[in-house]
Amino acid sequence: MSENDFEVVEPRAASLIESLRAFGYDLGSAIADLVDNSIAAKASKIWVDFQWRGTASTISITDDGEGMDKSGLRTAMRLGSRNPNELRADHDLGRFGLGLKTASFSQCRCVTVITKKSGGDESVMRWDLNHVSNKDAWHVMLSPRDGAMKERVGLENLKSGTFVLLQDLDRVPGIPHEDEAGSEDSFMRQCQEVEEYLSLVFHRIIEAPNGVKIYVNNRRITPVDPFFVVEATQILQSHRLRDSSGATVLVEPFVMPHESKVTDQSAREKAGDSRDWVSRQGFYIYRQERLLVAGSWLGFRGWRKDEHHKLARIRISIGNQSDALWQIDVTKRKASPPEQFKDALRKIGQTTRERAKRVYTYRGSRIAPTSAFELKFVWEQVVLHGQLSYRINREHPLVQAAKNSGDASSVERLLKVVESHFPTHLIDPNPIDDQVIAIVQSSSDDDTEVRKMLVASWHALKDKGIGHSQIMTILAAWEPFNAYPALVAQLQSNPPYQ
Ligand SMILES: Nc1ncnc2c1ncn2[C@@H]1O[C@H](COP(=O)(O)OP(=O)(O)OP(=O)(O)O)[C@@H](O)[C@H]1O
Ligand SMILES: [Mg+2]
Repeated sequence: MSENDFEVVEPRAASLIESLRAFGYDLGSAIADLVDNSIAAKASKIWVDFQWRGTASTISITDDGEGMDKSGLRTAMRLGSRNPNELRADHDLGRFGLGLKTASFSQCRCVTVITKKSGGDESVMRWDLNHVSNKDAWHVMLSPRDGAMKERVGLENLKSGTFVLLQDLDRVPGIPHEDEAGSEDSFMRQCQEVEEYLSLVFHRIIEAPNGVKIYVNNRRITPVDPFFVVEATQILQSHRLRDSSGATVLVEPFVMPHESKVTDQSAREKAGDSRDWVSRQGFYIYRQERLLVAGSWLGFRGWRKDEHHKLARIRISIGNQSDALWQIDVTKRKASPPEQFKDALRKIGQTTRERAKRVYTYRGSRIAPTSAFELKFVWEQVVLHGQLSYRINREHPLVQAAKNSGDASSVERLLKVVESHFPTHLIDPNPIDDQVIAIVQSSSDDDTEVRKMLVASWHALKDKGIGHSQIMTILAAWEPFNAYPALVAQLQSNPPYQ
């Protein structure tokens, strides 16, 4: 190729840098993207500080991670510092080589980074949007704004780490603009919202043993786990799906307890009790333990976030090698499942929604206790010779009932349950006609049928010498009865005989 074959058309710094502010971050997702960098740098502590000073207010993120040397910092400040197609280390929460810049620019016009490696000197660089716009050139400044150096007190006391200072916060509510007065209250409310957001997004990372500690204005944040487990939480069967890159994706459906059942104060706090339960339903996508999508029905047709399905939550855990397949976006707020998984996810979602609806519809208090840890399934997922396989759980009371009586109707009941709970979404790679599934499932959806199954199972357990109340606890934990709390409660108060 000769020089006549191309022309260099460089981006205009003044206009592009302003456009880079519009990637769609809000304050919470911007700070979370900066916290991602600290976690990727193996920080054990991260401090997020909001300082109110009117127009001169600042937000900073300090970490005790590995820090950077001068050339590392130079690379970090570059837009597109790394190729998104590069393989990343497991703990690396980054992908695009943009976050530090785009997240900061979305909120402010001046971002200063001061960093040091263990035993090394501090390095300083600053992007100042006013300067870039005025000069129309990609100039990174080599010193902080006047007075900014004294802000990094936290960093001075650390062996290594990084301090990111956001100034000129023109996009943050509460900061005074020419035409309006500022409001400290409004600024500090943002701080509160950011704290709540980080508590949710990083809950798995901060609650892990020896997990990262995150402080917002010196207050350590506590995890908010959308999948908190209390006695009435139903953990349904989990599924491992393999994507075309060979990576495994874990899908774990839950039916959360009805709000009225979450009486324990610490559980309420863990659940983020002030949050609206209707908006909290849906799939949650975690990437390397970091939450990307918090409750979405992923655009499946006709699935709305309504009151009836508010107890359905499904956890999806993916690794960072599947980023392209899941279409992770720069702000780390969006991800959508690859085409190859949509069918399986729709079926898992459908089952979870149906069960959640039944629990929601039945709001009585005489429900037999179901312990999340003891929930038992008709089909068991087992690994045989390194291969996933499935077998019918021989402990199921209906298996006992069929064995004991040996009559045709109890064998038929067992077969119906086995058929209707067959984990098709895991085994069959080909889409199955929805109508076929609907017909099979309707046979066990019939309350009269389920009641007969319950009674047959009750007798099978009674024959083993188990007492009524213990029988009810056992039955309530078994699939499919766990999805019929009203029928279980009826049997509890009206046993077939004592
Ligand atoms: N707090 C930090 N400590 C150490 N290194 C950092 C820190 N923040 C950024 N870096 C370095 O700067 C690089 C660029 O960060 P940036 O957030 O712009 O992109 P990224 O994290 O690679 O990808 P993404 O755009 O997905 O966030 C990082 O890859 C990392 O090497
Ligand atoms: Mg990043």
